[in-house]
Amino acid sequence: MTLTRILVVDDDDVDRLACRRALTRGGSLPIEFLEADTGARALELCATQRFDCLLLDFRLPDMDGIELMEQLLARPADMLVPVVMLTGADDVSVAVEAMRRGASDYLVKDVQGRYQALIPAVVQRVMRDHEMRRQKSRAEQALHAIISSASDAIVSADGEGRITLFNPSAEAVFGCESVAAIGLPIERFFTPLSGRVGGRRADGQHLELEVSLSHAKVHGQTMLTAIVREVTQRVQAELALSRYREELSSLTRKLMAQEKVTTRRIAQSLHDRLGQTLAALRLSFDAVQSGDQQAPPAMQQRHAERVGALIDQAVREVRQVLMDLRPPLLDEHGLAAALDNELRSRARAHEDVELLLEATDDCMQHRWPADVEYAGFMIAREALANALQHAGASTVRVRLGGSEQRLELEVLDDGRGIEEHELPSRPGHLGMVGMRERALAIGAHFSVARGDAAGTVVGLHWRPR
Ligand SMILES: Nc1ncnc2c1ncn2[C@@H]1O[C@H](COP(=O)(O)OP(=O)(O)O)[C@@H](O)[C@H]1O
Ligand SMILES: [Mg+2]
Repeated sequence: MTLTRILVVDDDDVDRLACRRALTRGGSLPIEFLEADTGARALELCATQRFDCLLLDFRLPDMDGIELMEQLLARPADMLVPVVMLTGADDVSVAVEAMRRGASDYLVKDVQGRYQALIPAVVQRVMRDHEMRRQKSRAEQALHAIISSASDAIVSADGEGRITLFNPSAEAVFGCESVAAIGLPIERFFTPLSGRVGGRRADGQHLELEVSLSHAKVHGQTMLTAIVREVTQRVQAELALSRYREELSSLTRKLMAQEKVTTRRIAQSLHDRLGQTLAALRLSFDAVQSGDQQAPPAMQQRHAERVGALIDQAVREVRQVLMDLRPPLLDEHGLAAALDNELRSRARAHEDVELLLEATDDCMQHRWPADVEYAGFMIAREALANALQHAGASTVRVRLGGSEQRLELEVLDDGRGIEEHELPSRPGHLGMVGMRERALAIGAHFSVARGDAAGTVVGLHWRPR
């Protein structure tokens, strides 16, 4: 059992002894007594030692008991000690004042010394009350620490829906200090959405939240508490991911449809043109083979010329099919030449727009890997088509730069400029998605931004990995 330490502060030796006797009489508690006959001595002892209870006589030679008690009660909470004030029979009003100033209890010293019998019970009760108060305050401190350090935002509201608690995480999530939030209606920060609860920051910004709500009755009042986790970034990332998936599958559907069209066109070209040419070639060749050796040389010459013409035509038709499949000039002469050719052919349909190719001399001849050149060409072609179709530009520049180690391609227009909301692609508009995916496929960086002064800049920056 722990030792109970009691300090008796009284300048009267007889009274001190009486207190000591009264407390040890029952003998139930192991008690250690210390005594002080002046206020100064009592303060000295309290400064260096811990006590469980003070029995304090009001009349001391150097100060009165209330003065001493006030000095003791001004100390930090963990050093507080319960005080039982002992007053004379003629000082009863002092007892009332002592209680008002923080004494735990009082006893009136009567001349017959009957008060001594009450000492043990009073001391035990004040010590028990003090301990309970201490435990309660510790529990409150622990609860406060938990709420303050919780990484989730915690917001409580009373029965009228007014905020009563707003922890530091709630301050961070909702962008509002607790002093400002307390007393506000809870709807100020929470908005009902279909089937769930959304959030609103103090600056009006929408928040995606995961909320767990609880109702509790405290002192007969309903208290609503929301434990909140902000998931705006996660929800936005999920949305972006699902939009990206949708874009990719639309792009795949478009590519598959294009593949079908291309295959049909090639089959048709091969059948209708090359097939017909080869059949005619066969006939002419057979005519030459089985021809009358006696036929005049002029006629033999005509047959041979016809065969030659048909072979030339077949070669042209094969070329045409290949040109339909690959951008003209790209494979043979490189990116700069293919872009130049593309700009010239576009210029014919857009005489009111100035189309310029700005390429460094090195670039005109330079060759990059075939897949990089192809992606670069297709991206420039789409960006050019967009500038002509959407920008209302008067000039469109295609800038080509770079070296062995890099490719820099930009398409700049001076048109109306692309709006922020147009950047995430809209259903059915897959040009941007296609450019982005082509860049991704060759490990290049792709960007679309507003131009310095006006218009739009589409950029492709590639380096070998
Ligand atoms: N150079 C540009 N200037 C202004 N707006 C543009 C430009 N390029 C694209 N846009 C806008 O971005 C949208 C998306 O472009 P894109 O994905 O290529 O689809 P599409 O060309 O089929 O509409 C266009 O519909 C247009 O509103
Ligand atoms: Mg487009």
